[in-house]
Amino acid sequence: MSSSSPSRSGAFDAAVDKRVEKFTESISFDHRMYQQDIRGSIAHAQMLADQKILTADEAQQIEATLTDIKGEIESGKFQFRQELEDIHMNIEQVLIDRLGDVGRKLHTGRSRNDQCSTDARLWVRDAIDRLDGLLADLQAAFLSRCELDAGVIIPAYTHLQRAQPVLAPHYWLAYCEKYQRDRDRLADCRRRVNLCSLGTAALAGTTLPIDRENSAKRLGFEGLVANSLDSSSDRDYLLETVFCLSTIAIHLSGWAEEWILWSTVEFDFIQLPHEFCTGSSIMPQKINPDVLELTRGKTARVVGSLQTLLMLTKGLPLAYNRDLQEDKPPLFDAVDTVESCLEVAAPLVEGARLKLDSIAARLDRGFLDATTLMEYLIKRGLPQRTAHHLIGGLVKLATEKSVTLSQLPLEDFQSFDSSLDESVYDILGVDKAVEAFQSVGSTAPAMVASQVDLWKKRLS
Ligand code: ARG
Repeated sequence: MSSSSPSRSGAFDAAVDKRVEKFTESISFDHRMYQQDIRGSIAHAQMLADQKILTADEAQQIEATLTDIKGEIESGKFQFRQELEDIHMNIEQVLIDRLGDVGRKLHTGRSRNDQCSTDARLWVRDAIDRLDGLLADLQAAFLSRCELDAGVIIPAYTHLQRAQPVLAPHYWLAYCEKYQRDRDRLADCRRRVNLCSLGTAALAGTTLPIDRENSAKRLGFEGLVANSLDSSSDRDYLLETVFCLSTIAIHLSGWAEEWILWSTVEFDFIQLPHEFCTGSSIMPQKINPDVLELTRGKTARVVGSLQTLLMLTKGLPLAYNRDLQEDKPPLFDAVDTVESCLEVAAPLVEGARLKLDSIAARLDRGFLDATTLMEYLIKRGLPQRTAHHLIGGLVKLATEKSVTLSQLPLEDFQSFDSSLDESVYDILGVDKAVEAFQSVGSTAPAMVASQVDLWKKRLS
């Protein structure tokens, strides 16, 4: 009666080839879903009892034994067996070994196809909730910098060329916005993850009188995957999740790159916390931003995982195909990678210090106030294109004279526009340029202050 695997029925006339066993196993990675697998099985058994398919006592025995197995896995006592292929059959076989026929009833009205999807959905749901918390921590770290760096002016760039002056908190809140979109995307994705595939069985459903709503509710799912064929084949929820992870990683990589640049002698904008830097084995002076570099580098793995999943699911006919077993390694790696990046990002953000003197010493470089001056001319009635051309000429002149715009004498301004008077000096210089901003969403100090307040409320 006992066979090498619960899935090997009497139809076979030979044992599986050892090489095939090794080739087809997934226990080496899907063991990570043991908790979800046991949770799913307990809910399924309880539903079967509610439907009088199992007796209450049978469901009770199954639950107790599965709970024991969970404890054994957690204490490292449980022996995973490759010949049992995956987490589902490893657990089920031990249940059968201990309970005999009662154990053999657990798989009633269920298939590994709906089981592995249910486990993955539960696993991803937990992961999304952890990721949301880590993203909130990172936002809080940026928000805490807003107090620390209140009133600090730094250059902002387009094309990595100096563009306009902004308040440092405006930078920090830009990151809060990006990570908020990441959180919102994850929350939206979670709605589709949080549907129950259990009870769709292999691909067509079951003739047994199961109650899918019952098991879904027990597992905290918000609804059911409607179509059993779709359910058996669907991995959209993994594609979406890993896409969300990819945008997080890409956001992290841009920030990492920015701070790597800022920490160079050439920029000299930021001091990274030494606990988050490493040295060189040959150059004693080096304090390298390896955490940021690895954050940038690990993004490749996350986007690679998305690519893997997209290609994996391309061209698959309905319904379950064994290809889908390959979904877990990229999923796990993407989640692990992004979690590990986020875990170090928040303390690094908190521990870094802007090099205020060094930033301030070069704020007058790059004509950060040129656009403000152009807008001053527009306010005095000049058409934008005329003002743009005129300021370009002034910038050229100032460059030739090696001075800032505010250091040009009034005659120079008047040689471009005779109506100009002393009041031009009221808007020149980065401090005045920042004060001059007005539009919603700009770096205007009042706007930034109200955004900081808003974010404090949002994150509290
Ligand atoms: N190890 C398989 C996986 O992870 C379990 C599903 C097997 N289903 C099947 N019809 N062979 O995808």
